[in-house]
Amino acid sequence: MSRTFIICKPDAVERGYVGEIIGRLERKGLTMVAAELRQLDADVLSQHYAEHQGKPFYDDLVAFMSRSPAFVAVFEGPAETYSIVRTMMGPTNPAEAPPGTIRGDFGTEMTENLVHGSDSDESAAREIGIFFPGL
Ligand code: RTP
Ligand code: MG
Repeated sequence: MSRTFIICKPDAVERGYVGEIIGRLERKGLTMVAAELRQLDADVLSQHYAEHQGKPFYDDLVAFMSRSPAFVAVFEGPAETYSIVRTMMGPTNPAEAPPGTIRGDFGTEMTENLVHGSDSDESAAREIGIFFPGL
């Protein structure tokens, strides 16, 4: 078994897509083991998005991710569950994401792409430690 960390980003919460996104992961066969609707701030986002600090889109990303609550969660499934979730999310740019993926079905623009998913087992462990340190 392995775990991964996901965020239904503020656009997903504002547009009422949390149930749709979580439902897709559940119907796939993954199990939610922790979750909370949470207001993210610049401090926690600087930890979460440390790899992107200094990039041109960083300030816009933090402003977007902190403008209203996000739904943060941990899902459990077979080995490399992070990869299953990433496949279901689709590519970063929703305009290029194929139909059938979360970003491809519900998004049109780069920053507001509805969902985050850890990109490796190492990232998942690091991110779960930031958002659910007791888990
Ligand atoms: P995420 O970390 O949120 O799961 O997304 P990702 O791996 O597919 O993409 P990543 O390269 O890690 O970028 C993190 C988030 O930053 C925003 N972004 N904007 N305007 C831009 O060029 C740009 N590039 C990235 C997106 O919200 C992306 O999901
Ligand atoms: Mg990423």
